[in-house]
Amino acid sequence: MESVTVQKTLTPLSGSLAFPGDKSLSHRAIMFGSLADGVSEFTNVLAGEDCVRTRKAFEAMGVAIEGLSPTHLKIKGRGLRSLRAPKKELYLGNSGTSMRLLLGILAGFDFDAVLTGDPSLSSRPMRRVTDHLKAMGARIEGRQDGNFAPIKIHGGNLKAIDARLSIPSAQVKSALLLAGLYAEGQTSVTEPARSRDHTEKFLSYFGAPIEQKGLRVSVNGSAPGKGPLRAKSFEIPGDISSAAFFIALSILVPKSSIQFRSVLWNPTRTGLLAVLKRMGVDVRVDRLHAGGPEPAADFTLTRRALGAFEIEKNELPALIDEVPILAVLATQAEGTSIIHDAEELRVKETDRIHSMVTTLSQMGASIAAEGNSLVIKGPTPLHGAPVDSFRDHRTAMALVIAGLVAEGKTTVKDTECVRTSFPDFFELLKKCGTAIC
Ligand code: S3P
Repeated sequence: MESVTVQKTLTPLSGSLAFPGDKSLSHRAIMFGSLADGVSEFTNVLAGEDCVRTRKAFEAMGVAIEGLSPTHLKIKGRGLRSLRAPKKELYLGNSGTSMRLLLGILAGFDFDAVLTGDPSLSSRPMRRVTDHLKAMGARIEGRQDGNFAPIKIHGGNLKAIDARLSIPSAQVKSALLLAGLYAEGQTSVTEPARSRDHTEKFLSYFGAPIEQKGLRVSVNGSAPGKGPLRAKSFEIPGDISSAAFFIALSILVPKSSIQFRSVLWNPTRTGLLAVLKRMGVDVRVDRLHAGGPEPAADFTLTRRALGAFEIEKNELPALIDEVPILAVLATQAEGTSIIHDAEELRVKETDRIHSMVTTLSQMGASIAAEGNSLVIKGPTPLHGAPVDSFRDHRTAMALVIAGLVAEGKTTVKDTECVRTSFPDFFELLKKCGTAIC
């Protein structure tokens, strides 16, 4: 088991930083490239373990994926309907996106597939997806009525549904839209609030028309023999959820001045920057990069102040993966910050309300859970402590950043989980001049 010890950094961050490809986009690039007609090439693909799981799953179903480098993939698409039955279980490690989106795709295929994962993934709820897929006609078995992996799915012969989701979830929405490509008629999904819209953008970009009206999105099934997806090639923008840790560090270490380069620029993902603006940080966009299904931006931040913030439930999807690092920022902000009704955090790679309250309290923060809301009073000086990552990548990285602004030494336990989304995290931190042992 790896652990990492850090201590307070006084070196201002300077220069410019670029980040590995966005995780959500990298998963989708591999999936869409595999299901498209023709050869797609993607650069700056995330080489993190989660995306490697997606790649291996498609390879196990007959797709030829050539790694021109770990981050440059050339995919010979087999077309929408020509995946082969996997000979073995598809092991998806820690990756919820792989499992939920794959369930949607596999619902279109008339063969058996079994999806498994690590202990964390095997305890994450899947009925939010499987109930809808069953309604479309897929046969699904799994512990507790298809709620927990291992999950066996046998699809084919799907009928369209008009689904109303009780939670905003891009993973659920995406799974149903992908299944909708294989269903007869029009499949619609309505969310209670807008979640990240990458699947919608990829569907249009790869040539499958979608219709969007408010929070309702619809896709038409394609007739057998007609693949609606055409191969595409592009560079994946940097992951804003990975950049978030360096954004926070640059705000917390005085006199830092960094340009963040080529970061995914999608309003359904930039909620962190909207909150920073409210806290008193100026965000200047230096350049927008078009190309591919999603734009990227170079931007610079200037801290004028660091005031407390409140985040309401509707705003959560646009920053759902940034809550751990926002909790760290809140410990250093002036006033009481509240993140309201964040029950979805309880079912991420770990219960992130519990992980952040436990660990930041150990470091001297004033942080508490009130039901499913997080209440953090600041500013409080943090002190180093041994803390547990709960084997959750975002908890681990948020704690490393907390350790870099705390007095004394912080040891974060079980940091190998960082490799799921940001394999170069520690290397990049060292490049920034931080003290990591
Ligand atoms: C993701 C959607 C989010 C996010 C996850 C990636 C995606 O999950 O937390 O890291 O790629 O669709 P939910 O949509 O289930 O909230």
